[in-house]
Amino acid sequence: MVILEIKNLHAKVNDVEILRGVNLTVNSGEVVALLGPNGHGKSTLLSVIMGHPNYTVTAGEIYYKGEDVLSMSVDERARAGLFLAMQNPSEVPGVIISDFIRAAINAKREKPIKPIELFRVLDKASKEMQMPLDLANRSLNEGFSGGEKKRHEIMQMKLLNPELAMLDEIDSGLDVDGIKIVANQINKEKSDKRSFLVISHYARLYDLINPTRAVVMINGRVAIEGGMEVINRIDQEGYEWIQIEHNISIEREDSRPVVLEVCAVNEGTKK
Ligand SMILES: Nc1ncnc2c1ncn2[C@@H]1O[C@H](COP(=O)(O)OP(=O)(O)OP(=O)(O)O)[C@@H](O)[C@H]1O
Ligand SMILES: [Mg+2]
Repeated sequence: MVILEIKNLHAKVNDVEILRGVNLTVNSGEVVALLGPNGHGKSTLLSVIMGHPNYTVTAGEIYYKGEDVLSMSVDERARAGLFLAMQNPSEVPGVIISDFIRAAINAKREKPIKPIELFRVLDKASKEMQMPLDLANRSLNEGFSGGEKKRHEIMQMKLLNPELAMLDEIDSGLDVDGIKIVANQINKEKSDKRSFLVISHYARLYDLINPTRAVVMINGRVAIEGGMEVINRIDQEGYEWIQIEHNISIEREDSRPVVLEVCAVNEGTKK
C-alpha cells in the first residue's frame, strides 16, 4: 500500500526555490534511504512534509494514506502518524520532557495516559536507548550533548509509534556505540505497517538498517533511485559519477542567487 505520495512538489524558503519538482512514492513497510549533496533539499523536503511554517509550497501535492497533507495542520499531521526527527533538534527551555511526551501521547489517545503508565513507558524507552531516566525531568534538549539529542529523537519515535518516521541525519554526532543503539532500535521498530524515510550521508548507518530503496536528491528533485549499490558507490566515489552517467549537472550551493532582504537580489554570485 502506498503510504506517501509526492507529486511535482515545489517549495520556497525566503523566496528561493529549493524543491523543484519532487516526485516520490513510499510504500508501507519500506525503509527509504534519502541521500544527496549538501544543500540540495533533503531536510527541506522532510520539513515541508511535516508542515514547517518557514517553507512555502508553490506547486505540487503530498498525499499520506490518500489524504491531502498540505491541507492539514502540523498537529493533524502528527496525529495522523507522521513523525520527524530533525537534523538539528531545537533546545526548548521550560518544556519538561515528560510533560512534552505526555502531551504528544495524549494527543493520539482518547483517554489520557495514567502517570504510572507514562513512567513505565518512559522507563522502558530510556533503558532501550541507554539514556538516564532523569533526563525526562529536564527541559527538552536543553544542554543535551549532540548524541543525547539524537538518541532522544529515537526515544520519542518509539513512544509515539508513527506510521511514517522521517529521520534526518539521525547518525550525526553519535559515537560508534550510539549509532549501533539507534540502528538497533530502528530495526526493532520496523514493521510492514511502518515506513521510514532516512537521511544520512554515510553507508555505515545504512549497512546497519538495510534500506529497501535508495533515493538521491539533486538540485531540489529526485535524480536517481536504486538499492544499496547506489549508497555504496556514493560512499566510495561521491556524486561525480551521477553527473557523468545520468547527465545531471550538480549545482553548487554558492551558485544560487543571494536574497538580500526582500528588495535586492545579488546576482553577482551567479557563475
Ligand atoms: N530559512 C532559510 N533561509 C534561507 N535559505 C534556507 C533556509 N532554509 C534552508 N535554506 C537553504 O535551502 C537549501 C537546502 O537546504 P537543506 O537543509 O534542505 O539541504 P540538505 O540537502 O538537507 O543539506 P545537508 O546535507 O547539508 O543537510 C540550502 O541552500 C539552504 O541554505
Ligand atoms: Mg539536511
